Amino acid sequence: MARKVLVTGAAGFIGAFLAKKLLEETDDVVVGFDNVNAYYDAGIKEDRLRMLREADADGRFTFVRDDLADGMAVERLFAGGGFDVVVNLAAQAGVRYSIENPRAYLESNLVGFFNVLEACRHHPVKHLVYASSSSVYGGNEKVPFSEDDKVDSPVSLYAATKKSNELMAAAYSKLYSIPATGLRFFTVYGPMGRPDMAYFGFTDKLVRGETIKIFNMGDCKRDFTYVDDIVEGVSRVMANPPEVRTGADGLPKAAHRVYNIGNSDPENLLEFVATLQRVLVEEGVLPADYDFEAHRELVPMQPGDVPVTYADTSALERDTGFKPATKLEDGLREFAKWYKGYYGI
Ligand SMILES: NC(=O)c1ccc[n+]([C@@H]2O[C@H](COP(=O)([O-])OP(=O)(O)OC[C@H]3O[C@@H](n4cnc5c(N)ncnc54)[C@H](O)[C@@H]3O)[C@@H](O)[C@H]2O)c1
Repeated sequence: MARKVLVTGAAGFIGAFLAKKLLEETDDVVVGFDNVNAYYDAGIKEDRLRMLREADADGRFTFVRDDLADGMAVERLFAGGGFDVVVNLAAQAGVRYSIENPRAYLESNLVGFFNVLEACRHHPVKHLVYASSSSVYGGNEKVPFSEDDKVDSPVSLYAATKKSNELMAAAYSKLYSIPATGLRFFTVYGPMGRPDMAYFGFTDKLVRGETIKIFNMGDCKRDFTYVDDIVEGVSRVMANPPEVRTGADGLPKAAHRVYNIGNSDPENLLEFVATLQRVLVEEGVLPADYDFEAHRELVPMQPGDVPVTYADTSALERDTGFKPATKLEDGLREFAKWYKGYYGI
């Protein structure tokens, strides 16, 4: 059955690839929403929207350019929407920038998400799926990170807003019987990705002959997750809403769940950089004789950083039959090929 799906953050990295998948692989009618802000190069966002218009062979995609923090705009969107499924991916992302510009996080991630919840309250949907983040695990030492672990010690405002989203969604789900699922994504990478993320920023710097800074002296591990795996996980979760049940007190119980979506195979940062360097040379982004040693500097850990991220994905696998599996080298190669074409190297 074709659904009407709202994807917020549709000009963003994950949102654009999710919308593309829905247009290509389902009969869903897709409404994209994004304010196309300039946190990073808005040209990439416009190019992602162009990609979506090309993927839309039969007129099932429309795009609304507006701000999630504007309650009236969100109410208008939902009043005329008739959405079956809402996927909220619009947010102010990034850990470091939350130190520089904290207010952007309050507006997009708290006020914006509140507006989405209020709209789902007044215009009921079959499923609200929203982005949380692996950053909610903060500096937890027990790995892999499981959805049952305590997540009460965020180390950045970004993480605090994402944990708040989970609490807000749980409360609205309980109060207004909104089936809702939060997804804790682990470091997402791939073609047409975010220029503010390390793999992309390192590539830009190396191409320009600048020095890259490797944080925590390279002694940290990240669960890098390929974007195709993320959107496959999101689309499986979309089709699997939690059931609304009545509790012993006669009131509805919260129909709210949280899943990790990560590769479950963390990579050491220095090895990650070595793999990136190798594929950049093999795919012709950098010359074979590039002096990588002269272009790198090991620096201490930055505020907001965590030493490790590592996803336990058994709940996702149990409930959807899916587990991310793309190898880092394969995913980085796709990024390198895209980078070469996009920037005409
Ligand atoms: N990429 C990752 O590694 C990662 C990891 C964990 C969680 N997440 C979360 O996943 C979601 C998608 O991330 P992404 O990597 O695609 O980021 P992105 O920045 O590429 O996409 C987010 C989009 O939301 C839009 N947006 C931001 N504030 C808005 C507002 N107030 N109104 C309307 N649109 C607004 C931006 O213009 C952007 O296009 C975010 O919620 C992010 O926090 C991402």
